[in-house]
Amino acid sequence: MSLASNASAGSILEILNTTAPATLELPIGDWPRQDLLDALAATTDLASASAESIARILMTTSLRRQENTRVQSLETLVRSRLPQAMLDQLDFTIATHLVNHDEYLRWVIQMVGGWLNVGDGNSQCFNHAIRHMPDGGAVIEIGSFLGVSVSVLSYYLTRLGRTNRLYNADPWHFEGTEKPVGGFFDGSRPVYRQYCVETYKKNVSLFCEQNMPISIEAFSDDFFKMWDDQATVSDVFGNKVKLGGPISFAYIDGAHTYEAAKMDFENVAKHLLPGGFVLFDDSNPQLNFGCVKSAAEAAQTLGFSRVFGHVNGLNVFLNKKS
Ligand SMILES: C[S@@+](CC[C@H](N)C(=O)[O-])C[C@H]1O[C@@H](n2cnc3c(N)ncnc32)[C@H](O)[C@@H]1O
Repeated sequence: MSLASNASAGSILEILNTTAPATLELPIGDWPRQDLLDALAATTDLASASAESIARILMTTSLRRQENTRVQSLETLVRSRLPQAMLDQLDFTIATHLVNHDEYLRWVIQMVGGWLNVGDGNSQCFNHAIRHMPDGGAVIEIGSFLGVSVSVLSYYLTRLGRTNRLYNADPWHFEGTEKPVGGFFDGSRPVYRQYCVETYKKNVSLFCEQNMPISIEAFSDDFFKMWDDQATVSDVFGNKVKLGGPISFAYIDGAHTYEAAKMDFENVAKHLLPGGFVLFDDSNPQLNFGCVKSAAEAAQTLGFSRVFGHVNGLNVFLNKKS
């Protein structure tokens, strides 16, 4: 069933509640479907609808929403009428649909080597953060390896029409290379590091060509010192850039020790704008990294709330309260 363009307030939830989720097509072409949002805003018993139903309407406004203030205020109205648990479910459902239906996203994750998987929940968090983060601050990635995650961040910035600048830091200094991988491959050799740096540059030059990140070869501590000092530095592509300023979203995926991830969070938190996001990789309690504890502690920090808090198995994803 397709969503009727003249849907009335009374019928809209009925239509959506009885339509199987499997029939949903990502309605990018239908944007902004303000008629559906109007109908939803006029519906008084929103709590009786499923999160899935409401997600499907709000999704029609998800792309390029920054450009349309009417859509934004209607969306705010609809959101204000929903209980928190439903909002969590709603945002997770929207992000999941947008990730699952995104052909390019799936393709680029296959193409570029690295540690990002479609099923690990990070892309959902990237998508949500980039749609909802405040304007005017940087997007920062700590730990880039061969460039897959920064390519996805760059893609979402372009696709969602966000103008926040993208920065990343990596010293290309690898954990877990003390012993040969599987007793077979010695990852501590300079030739492996050289391969990673060159592959990173090739990947990013190609897959981020519409929105190149500013890529700094540095340990995160040094990167944040330069950020605090508003230093002018050269990035790995030879561009001279001035660092510093507010941050809208940070993805922490560098050294996975307790101390390193804690420092990364503290360094980000100093500059994070109200409404900004932080995502810790490999921070799910079932995992055995030191950063699990740093992320759990960060989640207790005053002024931060957990996004998608009800969903098991995701990495720790925080939002600084406005
Ligand atoms: C798990 S990989 C990152 C994976 C990447 N985000 C991806 O999606 O494929 C970790 C990276 O962190 C980098 N790294 C290690 N220590 C770091 C530190 N102190 N600061 C920043 N990056 C660091 C490593 O060089 C490595 O490339």
